[in-house]
Amino acid sequence: MTSYLIKGARPYGGDAVDLLLKDGRIAAIGESLAATGAEVVDAAGLIALPGLVDLHTHLREPGREDAETVETGSRAAALGGFTAVHAMANTDPVADTAGVVEQVWRLGQEAGLVDVVPVGAVTVGLAGERLAELGAMADSAARVRVFSDDGHCVADPALMRRALEYVKALDGVVAQHAEEPRLTVGAQMHEGDRSARLGLTGWPAAAEEAIIARDVLLAGHVGARLHICHVSTAGSVDILRWAKARGVQVTAEVTPHHLLLTDECAESYDPVFKVNPPLRTDADVEAVRRGLADGTIDAVATDHAPHPVEDKECEWAQARPGMLGLEQALPVVVQTMVETGLLDWRGVADRMSARPAAIGRLDGHGRPLEPGEPANLLLLDPGVRSTVDPAALASRSRNSPYAGRELPGRVVATFLRGIPTVLDGKAQR
Ligand code: DOR
Ligand code: ZN
Repeated sequence: MTSYLIKGARPYGGDAVDLLLKDGRIAAIGESLAATGAEVVDAAGLIALPGLVDLHTHLREPGREDAETVETGSRAAALGGFTAVHAMANTDPVADTAGVVEQVWRLGQEAGLVDVVPVGAVTVGLAGERLAELGAMADSAARVRVFSDDGHCVADPALMRRALEYVKALDGVVAQHAEEPRLTVGAQMHEGDRSARLGLTGWPAAAEEAIIARDVLLAGHVGARLHICHVSTAGSVDILRWAKARGVQVTAEVTPHHLLLTDECAESYDPVFKVNPPLRTDADVEAVRRGLADGTIDAVATDHAPHPVEDKECEWAQARPGMLGLEQALPVVVQTMVETGLLDWRGVADRMSARPAAIGRLDGHGRPLEPGEPANLLLLDPGVRSTVDPAALASRSRNSPYAGRELPGRVVATFLRGIPTVLDGKAQR
């Protein structure tokens, strides 16, 4: 196995050191390291961070391989600096059995670019009626710990309670897509002045907040772990802060797009900006940034949602919700959180690697850059700014909301267990 000597990288943006990667681990960190036979990587000026972990990726396989496959999504993830991604369960067939989660897990192993960690559905077929075989998925080779009907809310409170009881026994977590469905019938965008003016049916903040409030109470009652997907409103951050102060085991994520974009984007009627939950107001963006900075929101998760052109380049009301995220997640966080002074590099590592790995109960990911730890890391050039060109993305889909935008920071290399999956900004397979 080739070993790699990374020269002059700055772990967490600190002083320049060398890192020796050997046998899948960080063998040494220090000044002027030498290693005969090691491949040398010049990392002068580059920031080293632990490999990123995504709690929320739609890889679309099985079923919609025209939008993304485990392999193309894995490549996008590696290029974005990720070493592990959780693959959401809303595939076709739905990942609601041990058989399907094992299939996704195996495809991830074959692609070999990131660790693909399947999420199991909470209910059979995401229908919200009967619990799926959570135990069998947890015991399978895929070792499922995160269960989610994402795309749909587990709306029935009695079923949600039952799901929390089951995952508690499995050391798992229910990741809730918080959307009270009776409040979002026909919804197209955030409900407010703009939706009224544009004549698009609104998705009120209360539809998200009502479910979060309900579910933190249920999680507290059961004593189980709850995770809230893609938090998008200021009110949600307030409820989470209240629940955490009371000791409820609740964690939450925010997407890069909810950190950067607002409902103003809908003025263009370009369906690339249609997403669920919708882009909110300036005040909401401010609140989710502050919530991420103070730890009320634990993690950044991409909600990478590839869609083929026919589902996105059409009338707004017909378009499917969702946007790409993997390749631009770190640059968006650099722009919205680092350049604003809200997070330092250790904070970025915490919110994009350590905490998501802990929530997903992943071994070997989210570990600090220290000798003896698994060599899962990325090298970032913080000085480069580049304009996003959707045609150049590794994803099979093109629905990037960042097209034409200049963003800071470029992932130069990603290492998975000591082997480069990305080098000189290029995927290695
Ligand atoms: O915008 C979204 N797209 N939100 C979801 O919850 C699901 C996702 C998808 O699967 O496309
Ligand atoms: Zn969702």
